Formats: sequence, structure tokens, C-alpha cells
Amino acid sequence: MLPQILLLGATGRTGRLVLDEGLKRGYLVTALIRKTNTDIPQHSNLTVVIGDPCKASDVEVALDSTKASIPIIIISTLGQTRTSGNPWAATTSPPRFMATSVEAVLSASQSFAEPARIHKLVILSSFGTGDSFASLNFMMQWIMKSSNMAQTLEDHNLVDEAVKAGPLPFVLVRSAMLKSGDAAPLKFYGNTGKGSGIMPGTNMKSIANFLLDLTVDDQYDGTTPMVTN
Ligand SMILES: NC(=O)c1ccc[n+]([C@@H]2O[C@H](COP(=O)([O-])OP(=O)(O)OC[C@H]3O[C@@H](n4cnc5c(N)ncnc54)[C@H](OP(=O)(O)O)[C@@H]3O)[C@@H](O)[C@H]2O)c1
Repeated sequence: MLPQILLLGATGRTGRLVLDEGLKRGYLVTALIRKTNTDIPQHSNLTVVIGDPCKASDVEVALDSTKASIPIIIISTLGQTRTSGNPWAATTSPPRFMATSVEAVLSASQSFAEPARIHKLVILSSFGTGDSFASLNFMMQWIMKSSNMAQTLEDHNLVDEAVKAGPLPFVLVRSAMLKSGDAAPLKFYGNTGKGSGIMPGTNMKSIANFLLDLTVDDQYDGTTPMVTN
């Protein structure tokens, strides 16, 4: 039997692909989104909960809305939103947005009535986070430290630390630059991305598929796979 998914970030670019593909694969999905969104499809397998992913009480309401007796995998594709689609544009999310949300998730996972039903936390992270920073080329290192990316990188670093120190089994997927287009096979570059090239890119559909694969595949548990196409 498939586990069910609690999805944070369903309204984002990658999150929406996870939602659509998850429903296509037959998962029960509970999506916690911050405001009513008419683009979110109506589907018999989808429960939408309106709330703040940074509030443990709202995450707990979403956990309470999942179906009893079925294991839960929490997938987060949350990200700092920007003034434009350009990855270097100014952020419109609070500096510690993703870290605050993951703290809320970890806290709610403990106060939830059935913590044992939460089997794993799968987070879409970024190449450059934690010990993968050294594998970026010097230009990307400089850009990520000196541009608007710095706030996002620091937030991903805080998430990385909190999840690794937390009680839940996890996978922190370190994606290269997100691109649109058709899904293509992924290439894996260990935990740190060493050898992944100058400007690697990852197709969002491929990432969405991989995040869903991780709900039933334990081989990457406790790791930070760096992936490109
Ligand atoms: N862009 C890249 O090249 C790249 C590369 C590697 C990794 N990543 C990472 O991949 C992840 C997903 O990226 P994406 O481009 O698919 O994300 P996105 O389209 O920017 O979506 C961000 C999601 O986070 C939510 N969110 C943002 N601020 C919020 C807040 N203050 N309160 C509640 N919800 C909030 C958004 O909700 P609303 O729809 O309500 O705003 C949306 O669902 C991010 O963590 C990103 O850093 C990106």
C-alpha cells in the first residue's frame, strides 16, 4: 500500500508538479497552503488545509486531516519567493522562512497524536547547501554568497542542520538549478555534488518524480543526494 503525503509548497513551481504527479500515481495528498488557491485542482484524493507552514499548530491540523492508519511522508518544496522568476531577484519571504517551517514540522510531528505514522521527511534543498558548497565552482560560490541568493542559501543551511539534528528519517535532495521541460533521467553526485560540472541544471518534473519515488524507496534515507539531469 502507498503511504500518503503531507505536501508543503503545493502552490509553488515544483510543488505543483509533485501534487499533479502524486495524484496521478494514486497517492492520498494533504496539501497545506497559506491561502485559497483556485488553481489547485479538486480531486477525491486531495485534502486542502489552509494554514501557515511556519506554525506548528497549523501543521498539526494538516497532520490531523490525514487519513487514519496510513503512514505519512511529509514532502516540502517550500522556497523563498522572489519579486520575479529570476533566481537572483530580491526575496519576498522572511529570511528564516524555510527554517521556521521545518522547526514547525518537527515540533508538530512530536505533538501529533500518532507520531509513529510519520515515516519520513523529504525536503527539496539546493546544491550549495552545507557541505556541498565546496563543490560549486568559484563563480557560483561568489554569486551565492554575494547576491540575493545568500539569504536563501543560509535558510537552506539552517534547514539542513535542523533536519539532521531532528528525530525524523529524512532525505534532503540537493537540486542543481531548476529548469522546466520534460522529465529526463537523473544523475547522482553523492551527498556533495562533487564533479557535477560548471552550471548543472535539474528538470523540475524529474525532481518531482524523484521526491515521490523517495516515499517508497528508502535507499537515500539519512542522506543529501545531489541530483542533476
Ligand atoms: N530556483 C532554482 O534554480 C533552485 C535550485 C535548487 C533548489 N531550489 C529550491 O527548490 C525549492 C522549490 O523551488 P520552487 O521554485 O519550486 O519554489 P516556488 O515556486 O518559489 O514556491 C515556493 C513555495 O513556498 C511558499 N511560500 C513562500 N513563502 C511563503 C510564506 N512566507 N508563507 C507560506 N508559504 C510560502 C509558496 O507559497 P505561495 O504560492 O502561497 O507564495 C510556494 O508554495 C526551494 O526551496 C528552492 O530554494 C531552487
